[in-house]
Amino acid sequence: AITVHPERSDAKIDDTMYGVFFEDINRAADGGLYPELVQNRSFEYSTADNSSYTPLTSWTVSGTARAVSDDGRLDARNRTYLALDGGSSVTNAGYNTGIRVESGKAYDFSVWARADASTPLTVTLRDAEGTLAEARRLTVRGGWARYRARFTPDRTTSTGRLAVAAEGAVALDMISLLPRDTYKGHGLRKDLAEKIAALHPGFVRFPGGCLVNTGSMQGYDEASGYQRKRAYQWKDTVGPVEQRATNANFWGYNQSYGLGYYEYFQFAEDVGAMPLPVVPALVTGCGQNKAVDDDTLLQRHIQDTLDLIEFANGPVTSEWGARRARMGHPRPFHLTHLEVGNEENLPREFFTRFEKFRTAVEAAYPDVTVISNAGPDDSGSTFDTAWQLNRDANVDMVDEHYYNSPQWFLQNNDRYDSYDRNGPKVFLGEYASGGNTFKNALSEAAYMTGLERNADVVKLASYAPLLANEDYVQWRPDMIWFNNHASWGSADYEVQKLFMNNVGDRVVPSTATGTPTLNGPLSGAVGLSTWATTAAYDDVSVTGADGGTLLGDDFGGDASQWTHTGGGSWSVQDGQYVQTDVAAENTMVTAGDPAWHDYDLHVKAIKKSGKEGF
Ligand code: AHR
Repeated sequence: AITVHPERSDAKIDDTMYGVFFEDINRAADGGLYPELVQNRSFEYSTADNSSYTPLTSWTVSGTARAVSDDGRLDARNRTYLALDGGSSVTNAGYNTGIRVESGKAYDFSVWARADASTPLTVTLRDAEGTLAEARRLTVRGGWARYRARFTPDRTTSTGRLAVAAEGAVALDMISLLPRDTYKGHGLRKDLAEKIAALHPGFVRFPGGCLVNTGSMQGYDEASGYQRKRAYQWKDTVGPVEQRATNANFWGYNQSYGLGYYEYFQFAEDVGAMPLPVVPALVTGCGQNKAVDDDTLLQRHIQDTLDLIEFANGPVTSEWGARRARMGHPRPFHLTHLEVGNEENLPREFFTRFEKFRTAVEAAYPDVTVISNAGPDDSGSTFDTAWQLNRDANVDMVDEHYYNSPQWFLQNNDRYDSYDRNGPKVFLGEYASGGNTFKNALSEAAYMTGLERNADVVKLASYAPLLANEDYVQWRPDMIWFNNHASWGSADYEVQKLFMNNVGDRVVPSTATGTPTLNGPLSGAVGLSTWATTAAYDDVSVTGADGGTLLGDDFGGDASQWTHTGGGSWSVQDGQYVQTDVAAENTMVTAGDPAWHDYDLHVKAIKKSGKEGF
C-alpha cells in the first residue's frame, strides 16, 4: 500500500533538474551530432596524435598527392593542406560504412583551394553501384578561396564516396560535405538532435568530461603559434570553421571543433535547455593527475572564462558579444551556470585554482553560479577532502560523478537523504549503472526517485555519456546510439525521457508498505526488445512457468552465439532461438559477439496442457 501526504510539501523540483551531458567521446561530434560527412576534411590527422593516423587517413589517392604543412597553409590553426598534382584525385570514405546521402535531399559541398593557373576540379559523389548525383565542375584560380557546389542525389546510400579530381596542380583544404536539412536549420544532425530534444532536457552540460582538462594545459605555443593536444579552450572553437583548430582529443581521435561553443549554445537554446559549459582548471584528473603552476597561464584561463560569459551574455557592443552577433546570434544565450574543472583528484591543487576562477567570475558576474567538483569518485578520502573544501568555502554547487552497478543504484536510493541541507547543492553531472539493459534502466529509474525526493539538495542530474557511434566506441553504456544512417535510444534513454518529460513541481511525501514483485508467473505474452552487446549485456532473465517455450529472433547474426543457463533445451530453427521446457528461472547470456544487435526476445508461455497464451 502507498500512502501519500499531499498536505505536506517537501522540496520544490526545478524545471532544470534533469539534463544531458554532451561530450565528444565515441565520435559523438564529427560524423555524429555535427554531421560532417567527410572524415579528416582538413588533413590534420597526425601520427603524432594517434599511431594509426596519417594526414591522409580516410582518403585514397589516385595519382600523386602530398600532405603539406608549410607557410602556404590556409590558416595558422589549420596546419596541413593537400597538394594534388594535375591528373590526380582523392576520395574520402566518410564514417562507418561510408558517406550517407538520401535521395532528393540537398548536400552542400565546399572546398578551400588555391592554384597558380586556372585549374578545373571535378567533384563526384558515388558508391559501388555508380554515380549518386551529377558531377560538379569548379574552376580554381589564384590564392586561397572557398568554392561550393550542391548535390541532390537520386539514390539513397550509406556507402557513398566523395572524390575530387584536379586537371592541374592545386592546393586543397577543408573538403566538406554537409546535409542542408539540419535540426532547426542550425547545422546539427536531425535524428540525433531530435532524440535529444525529445528528452526536453533542463540543461546541456558540455563539452566534457575528461575532454576538457586533459592534454597539454597550454594554449597555443607562442613561438610557433600552435600546440598539439591542448586542453579544450572555447576560443579555439568559434569563428569561421576553417580558422578553428582541430584537437587530438583525450579519447584518442581527432576532433574538428566544427561543433564549437557557438553551436553548443545554439543547440541548448534550440532544445529549450540551460547551457552549462565546463572550463579547464589547469589541473588534470582522468588518470593524468597533474597541476600546472603557471600563474600567467592561469590568469589567461580566468580571463578566457570571463570572456566566455561575455560571449554568451554580453551586449553586441562588447568585444565578445559582438563576436557572437557576427556569428548570427545578437541576442544573449543566457548563461547562468558554469563549471570549473572536471573530476579533479588533486583536490587541494584544484581548489586553490577554483577559488581564483570563482572570485573573478563573482566579481564581474555575481549572478553566475560557479560549480565546483568533488573529484573522480563518489567516495574515499579524495572525495571527502574535496567536499570538505567546498563546504568550508560555501561553494554554491558541487559536481559529483559515479558509474556503478545496478545493485549499487538500488541499494543507494537514500544517498542524498543525509546530505547537509545547508551545504553546497549537488550537481550529479555523470552517472550510469554499467549497461544498457532493461535492468540497468530500471535501477536508474529507481535511483532517480531518490534524486527527486532530495530535490532540495540535488539540483541538476545528467546520465552519461549521451552519444555513441557504434563503430567508434571508447565508453559504454551510452544513452543514444547511432551509425551513419540510423540512431536509437537505449532503455536508459527511455527512463531519462520519462523523467525529463514529467518533472514534478514539488515532492509530496509518501510511504509504502509491502514488497512489490516484478515477475509474476508467465501466462501471457511478453515482448522484450533491447539492444545488447557482450560487454554491456550479461543476461536477460525470464521468470516463467515451467515448460514454456522461449523464442528469440532477430539476432542480427549468428544465433549460436547465444547460450543460456537455467535449464531447458534449445535449438536454432529458421534463424530463431527456440528453447523448450523453459525453467522457472532462465537466463540467456551472450558469448563473444561484440557488436550491438537489436535483440527481440519474444516469450511465449506454452502451458503444459499445450494451450498457447499470447
Ligand atoms: O562520461 C565519460 C567520462 O567519465 C567523462 O569524460 C569523465 O568525466 C568520466 O570519468
